[in-house]
Amino acid sequence: MSEKNFQIAIDGPSGAGKSTVAKAIAKKLNIEYIDTGAMYRALGLKMLNLGIPMEDGPQLHKLLEETEIDFQNGEIMLDGQVVSHLIRTPEVSMAASDCSAFPCVRKQLVAAQQKMGESKSVIMDGRDICSVVFPDAQHKYYITATDEERARRRYKELIEKGENTTFEETLAAIRERDYNDSHRAASPLKKADDAVELDTTDMTIEEVVEYICSRV
Ligand code: DC
Repeated sequence: MSEKNFQIAIDGPSGAGKSTVAKAIAKKLNIEYIDTGAMYRALGLKMLNLGIPMEDGPQLHKLLEETEIDFQNGEIMLDGQVVSHLIRTPEVSMAASDCSAFPCVRKQLVAAQQKMGESKSVIMDGRDICSVVFPDAQHKYYITATDEERARRRYKELIEKGENTTFEETLAAIRERDYNDSHRAASPLKKADDAVELDTTDMTIEEVVEYICSRV
């Protein structure tokens, strides 16, 4: 990696605003944004579409061998097709969380993420970026907010997209995913010791972006 390249690693639970913040910072600093959650979502989508049960068996290993996930012009690609518009439903969110618990899945996607951030400056968000993907990143943040606030933000997004759901359902789904993501054996969601924690419950997106940019 060139000396001038740097990595900004952002972790945190779902709905904390990581991707909105990361996108804005990428634009401001003119660096690449890599949404690692989209990669787990793409795989979750493929498993749902193929009706493959969430089991760490030969089927999952075979599926991984036959699956190509990458980004092109900011779009998430699954086996050569743009799937950005298909991966934000509550079903795919849960499938992503479920499939992300398997060590073989993490191994493959983490290796791809490390490669993407190897030769350029990037901002990457996810659950294990500070701890596993880029433990030596120059800038590490753990972005969080109360579960009610995260559910409010997610609910607003889903309604705007025309999803048929309620606030209570959204809150329950956020809590279920939090539990899943922080209780799995492989790289559970956890603040890295050296990451700066930012509770964004009472912060605007602009404030969070400003806070991080002023430190880079
Ligand atoms: O950030 P997101 O909500 O789009 O992520 C979807 C799921 O993918 C999340 O519930 C857990 C998993 N994930 C992960 O395990 N590791 C990452 N680096 C990113 C996402």
